[in-house]
Amino acid sequence: MREEIGSKILKLLASSSGFLSGPTIARKLKISRAAIPKRIKGFRTLGCKIDSCAGQGYRLISVPDKLLPPFITMGLKTTIIGRQVFFYPKIDSTNSQAKAIAGQGIHDGALVITDYQTQGQGRLKRQWVSPPQKNLLLSVVFCSLVAPSKVFQMTLFASLAICKSLNALFKIKAGIKWPNDVYVNNRKICGVLTDVATDQKRVKWVVVGIGLNVNAAPSFEPELGSLATSLKRETGRAQKRPPILKRILEEMDCLYKRFLSGEITNLRDEWLSYSIILGKKVTIFSDGLQETGIAETIDEDGVLILLTPDGERKKIVAGDVSLRIQETGVRRQKSEERNHNESSLS
Ligand code: ATP
Ligand code: BTN
Repeated sequence: MREEIGSKILKLLASSSGFLSGPTIARKLKISRAAIPKRIKGFRTLGCKIDSCAGQGYRLISVPDKLLPPFITMGLKTTIIGRQVFFYPKIDSTNSQAKAIAGQGIHDGALVITDYQTQGQGRLKRQWVSPPQKNLLLSVVFCSLVAPSKVFQMTLFASLAICKSLNALFKIKAGIKWPNDVYVNNRKICGVLTDVATDQKRVKWVVVGIGLNVNAAPSFEPELGSLATSLKRETGRAQKRPPILKRILEEMDCLYKRFLSGEITNLRDEWLSYSIILGKKVTIFSDGLQETGIAETIDEDGVLILLTPDGERKKIVAGDVSLRIQETGVRRQKSEERNHNESSLS
């Protein structure tokens, strides 16, 4: 995909700490000097602060909280994820759109992002709600060859990327609630929805959708009030979305490359270290049935191992199951003691 001249100018300005003159920009980007003022004006109209000084040129001061492709790709340190960006001011669902364009010659790691979803989807046909222009709503299309049994790892590394990003940017302790949620202080801040298309036992593409509450007030949906949280709530102030998005894409890019290289043990250790369910009493709901036990571990393929009260270890595949944490105080060590003694739970 050819990069737009405006994006190139913005990237160049962002990489320079001081002023860049028109002739320097023109020379570096091999474009005509005449093309520059129009682009600068366009970016100012979009909300960028760009200083200009006679004889010295232009200096980028700040970019707005907008998710337009140049503000995303500017300074983005990824090699796979976000090489192509499809931005929509409003769309039904980024996962639906990503599925519609997957397999149509788009690059591995293409990003579909929006400011507002009219039919945001959660798992199990639930709804994902998010007011306009407040949060991050995105989907990444993966089209490398992946074994079907490995697809669930992609949900886990997306959740891991979120936890690592929130930790690095805001020192927020986020944790993964298997199979697909990220929690902060016992409230859901992010959900991940993975869709996959297979063809004769081969994965054609995987779409990983992420909804992260950034600036929405916790009361944006009355019934979510006490269940959900946002970065604004956790940090006490509104946050700009582009730097958060970039960090997430960079973490995902790094984890995806490790995943493609076949690294698994360390990745698994990392997601286990962020899990908020291990060692806890949980109930699994599936097809009207329910089963309670201790969440013992999550295996290499992302399958939950549930230790039932009669000492049986059951493999729970994420698919169509829901999980509720029954207690918060049982530490992992306790469950390990239980396993060791092979005693049953009451
Ligand atoms: P489980 O995955 O174990 O069933 P869950 O209740 O979080 O847990 P999901 O299917 O993962 O269910 O997520 C969908 C649910 O997320 C919706 O039913 C809704 O309650 C909740 N939800 C919707 N929008 C948001 C949001 N912006 N922030 C937090 N939670 C939301
Ligand atoms: C869940 O918690 O059940 C998953 C929620 C996933 C929401 C994101 S928002 C961006 C992407 N597009 C969608 O329609 N859903 C995912």
